[in-house]
Amino acid sequence: MSGRHVVARAADLADGERMIVEVGGRSIGIFNVGGEYYGLLNRCPHQGAEMCKGQIGGTVSSSVPGEYHYDAGRKLLMCPWHGWEFDIRTGQSYIDPTGTRLRAFGIDVEPGAKLVEGPFVAETIDVSVEDDYLVVNLRPRRSK
Ligand code: FES
Repeated sequence: MSGRHVVARAADLADGERMIVEVGGRSIGIFNVGGEYYGLLNRCPHQGAEMCKGQIGGTVSSSVPGEYHYDAGRKLLMCPWHGWEFDIRTGQSYIDPTGTRLRAFGIDVEPGAKLVEGPFVAETIDVSVEDDYLVVNLRPRRSK
């Protein structure tokens, strides 16, 4: 099975937005930062929070006391539970850059015409209606 999965149209993810997808049993956040796409595992390495639901912000740095610089271009993702921060582009920890990392995944943008050539796998989910509830079946679809 190919490790590449088509998950959405690029146009469905506007600049500054994110989406969370399930791929190969993993929850992955995809972020559009200025037209570049980045993927991060949706699990904080600290205690497992849904990392990709956290706030996004820039960085603040200072070379001397009393002066600071806000860099809106370097985007950090903050864990919603305890505030650990990671660089969206690399998964590198802001506070522990050599010891802690959020797993990053490559996100490619490919023209539709190229996708029909394969090999790609589209994730499918069976959905059925029972009474008044929608039930999502996570087992892979089987052809009849
Ligand atoms: S679970 Fe993410 S910082 Fe604690």
